[in-house]
Amino acid sequence: MTTQARSGRVLVIIPTYNELENLPLILRRLRSAEPSAHVLVADDNSPDGTGELADSLAAADDHVHVLHREGKQGLGAAYIAGFHWGLEHGYDVIVEMDADGSHPPEQLPDLLDRVDAGADLAIGSRYVAGGSSVNWPRRRRLLSWGANVYVALALNLHIKDSTAGFRAFRSTALEKLGLDRVNSQGYCFQVDLTMRTIRRGLRVDEVPITFVEREHGTSKMDQAIVVEALWRVTRWGIRYRSTQVVRQVRKLGRTSGSSRGDSGSSSAGAPAD
Ligand code: GDD
Ligand code: MN
Repeated sequence: MTTQARSGRVLVIIPTYNELENLPLILRRLRSAEPSAHVLVADDNSPDGTGELADSLAAADDHVHVLHREGKQGLGAAYIAGFHWGLEHGYDVIVEMDADGSHPPEQLPDLLDRVDAGADLAIGSRYVAGGSSVNWPRRRRLLSWGANVYVALALNLHIKDSTAGFRAFRSTALEKLGLDRVNSQGYCFQVDLTMRTIRRGLRVDEVPITFVEREHGTSKMDQAIVVEALWRVTRWGIRYRSTQVVRQVRKLGRTSGSSRGDSGSSSAGAPAD
């Protein structure tokens, strides 16, 4: 599908914290890969001046916008603010993409094609056939693998790369996720939104992508981010599993005839707030 055939207006949100070297490179690649898409740089007052650079790039390109935030409040918070901005400005599809080149903009059209084909969320996945990670240190590979296994066991989402940060949402789907109730600050935000999308019965497709480790600057991943992910996923898992148990018990009650005929409205698919 060509970019001209897109069924709606696309906004790509790029969260930044100290991405001075990366920002101009990624913007150039993105603008040529998907020329009609608009971009929102969501900067957390980067000490290295990324925010000011974003302003000057936006002044020269009417497809580029900047959201200045007061200080470093986490990836999740930056995206939520960006989503609100995008919804208020009437975009039909809203994309998450890192600034550091790990998410090749040249693969964005594949994600958008899936949304055009009916997906509510298209996830750029490293772990479906054709997907991969390049130059990722062993430690990060292991962490990512472990996180995905843990999420699969705890939450039963049937998604191969639930932590992935390159993804395209249909705006109508985003509006159903209860964004105001999202508390995830760090990278578990990605799992949170994957879970919310699935629990609401929306369509999630995984599209193979090549994740390329950054060449400039450093990752903002730290121990606090891992700890937050661990306790939140554990909490969601306990709630999900206990809902499952209640549901099974109700079902058993009905089949054994001991149920008083209550409809037992299932809450296993209940919104994960
Ligand atoms: N505004 C803002 N505020 N931006 C942030 C913050 C923050 O607190 N923390 C990180 N970012 C920006 C970075 O500047 C970069 O553009 C993007 O978010 C990703 O940050 P990285 O630090 O490069 O992430 P990563 O490479 O370790 O992790 C990537 O892969 C994970 C999956 O393995 C990201 O895509 C994660 O979202 C993803 O879960
Ligand atoms: Mn990165």
